[in-house]
Amino acid sequence: MTDPIALLIRPMQVEDIPRVMQITECQPEAPHWPVSAYELALNPNAAPRRVALVAEHLASRALVGFVVASLVAGEAELESIAVAAEAQRCGLGGQLLLKLLAALKDLDVSRINLEVRASNHPALALYARHGFRETGRRIGYYAEPVEDAELMCLDLG
Ligand SMILES: CC(C)(COP(=O)(O)OP(=O)(O)OC[C@H]1O[C@@H](n2cnc3c(N)ncnc32)[C@H](O)[C@@H]1OP(=O)(O)O)[C@@H](O)C(=O)NCCC(=O)NCCS
Repeated sequence: MTDPIALLIRPMQVEDIPRVMQITECQPEAPHWPVSAYELALNPNAAPRRVALVAEHLASRALVGFVVASLVAGEAELESIAVAAEAQRCGLGGQLLLKLLAALKDLDVSRINLEVRASNHPALALYARHGFRETGRRIGYYAEPVEDAELMCLDLG
């Protein structure tokens, strides 16, 4: 078994937004948010409140991934997670997810929910590996291309 890659996982800052958008640009499965959506996610006074984390390689300080979740009524919604294409399948997505789950537990969040394209096998496998269970399917939920959403959740209690 190889050691996990040494990462610094820290709150996202406004200065990180260009690199975060660059990571999603070439990945059709990732949500493509405008700058204003990231700015809103980082605004502590905005509703809903969000937890946004980025992962940096400890050695190079290169930003290689991020995750964003919103908090509503004691539950969270995983809105976006992406790892730079060249850094995938090295455990970074898993490390980001674990750090997010720990942060949500500290905020007394009882459950995290998500929607994912039914064809997004890497993401479905990541979530299943970390204990998410499928709770349903929304037919034709996504556009361009039209596709079903798998609904998943994980109880944090
Ligand atoms: C989904 C994503 C974040 C996973 O990040 P990652 O750093 O590659 O994931 P990890 O290396 O931590 O993988 C953890 C587990 O997820 C599963 N997994 C990840 N990528 C996979 C792939 N391409 N095929 C199959 N399983 C995969 C595996 O179970 C893996 O464990 P293993 O390598 O020990 O078998 C990444 O593929 C990505 O950024 N995709 C584009 C954006 C996206 O689809 N986001 C989700 C929708 S918002």
